[in-house]
Amino acid sequence: MTDNASDKPQTATGGQGQAMWGGRFSAKPAELMQAINVSIGFDKRLWAQDLAGSRAHARMLITQGVIASQDGEEILRGLDAIEAEIVAGTFPFRDEYEDIHMNIEARLRELIGPTAGRLHTARSRNDQVAVDFRLWVREACDRSAAQLEALQKALVAQAEAYADALMPGFTHLQPAQPVTFGHHLMAYVEMFGRDASRFKDARARMNECPLGAAALAGSPFPIDRHATAAALGFDRPTANSLDSVSARDFALEALSAASIAATHLSRLAEEIVLWTTPMFGFIKLTDAFTTGSSIMPQKKNPDAAELIRAKVGRILGSLTTLTVVMKGLPLAYSKDMQEDKVPTFEAFDALELSLLAMAGMVADLTPNTQKMAAAAGAGFSTATDLADWLVRTLNMPFRDAHHVTGSAVKAAEIKGVDLAELALADLQAIEPRITSDIYTVLTPAASAASRISYGGTAPAQVRAQVARWKELLG
Ligand code: ARG
Repeated sequence: MTDNASDKPQTATGGQGQAMWGGRFSAKPAELMQAINVSIGFDKRLWAQDLAGSRAHARMLITQGVIASQDGEEILRGLDAIEAEIVAGTFPFRDEYEDIHMNIEARLRELIGPTAGRLHTARSRNDQVAVDFRLWVREACDRSAAQLEALQKALVAQAEAYADALMPGFTHLQPAQPVTFGHHLMAYVEMFGRDASRFKDARARMNECPLGAAALAGSPFPIDRHATAAALGFDRPTANSLDSVSARDFALEALSAASIAATHLSRLAEEIVLWTTPMFGFIKLTDAFTTGSSIMPQKKNPDAAELIRAKVGRILGSLTTLTVVMKGLPLAYSKDMQEDKVPTFEAFDALELSLLAMAGMVADLTPNTQKMAAAAGAGFSTATDLADWLVRTLNMPFRDAHHVTGSAVKAAEIKGVDLAELALADLQAIEPRITSDIYTVLTPAASAASRISYGGTAPAQVRAQVARWKELLG
């Protein structure tokens, strides 16, 4: 064999025979095959699920008389020993055994001898990986839902503390109408509540056990799929063996839910970035969730919020990756599906870290209530209140009231004052029937307090929603 490191220049066509394959793989096809095939580097994360699946399978095989109970007990003791090794960090994860399933089986054989080979009766790696991955995704959904609820609790606590704190409500990021900070935070409580419920819905749908589908067609052994399903906490076995080993829509659904939750996180993160700028100055974060600049001593950057804002890229990328992997795959199992794990692990790592960091940041933030309240009155934000007063008090059609209010805003703009600072005479010049009572509705506080419709921004309404969520979140 020619030496790649020879001093002859190598050509693109591999003039030296194997040169094109480069130095890394020393040109042996078997090594390239292993390099592309091996998954232990990432699917070792499924070790706990793999052991759980194997234990349930072994116990069922014993009960059904498919294997002798003595053999079964030996297998179970071997699996215990393997768990102890993995926990202790002494388990030898080896590339030559390709994936987590074969690594565990190979080790079992080393520990207990040829009896280990009986564990794979009535099972294939196809249903084995399907059950492992489903268990992992189910747990990820449970963790995400719990972390979303923890984030909701942090938001509810701040919302309760600032149920009366005025801030501008925005549309088009322009001041629109005064709202309360508590109300604004509770909007995210609603979003994250739906996100948590999406994970719960996905969990309920995925909670069927593929184990026992074997390679694709089922098994000729008298296995009890209902027993293994129950042992692993599934509601029932999957009803079609081909679907059992082919389906990854449970992961797609979980990744969809993760992408939507990440989108919500990115919106809150963006608001935190905006609110912490000196120009807004609505909130402050402590040093716990900010970083300094290496050159500009005055800086306090909201890096955690920025990173959360960005994570949606990775998470949505994972959904795209797996969707493309699955698209057009013929039934049943194909090795393409091994590409399901990395994106899914990455997405949930990113989501869980984001949820934890966001909950921490929400608990950490302190609003500058004076600055927010001052901003709440800017931009003629009580113009709608003026119009509503005209409708209520003068029985004006809303469209006419809108027109009168527009003139009042123009007058205030020309004078360089707020609506509440316009003289009564100026208002009466526009609409003679206006009385001094109008000033009771022109402050941001009055504006917010007046919005008592269900789900509105009035502090009493905000408190009612806070109470409802406290009850729901326990
Ligand atoms: N490592 C494989 C995966 O993750 C396990 C299943 C392999 N099955 C097979 N027939 N080669 O998909």
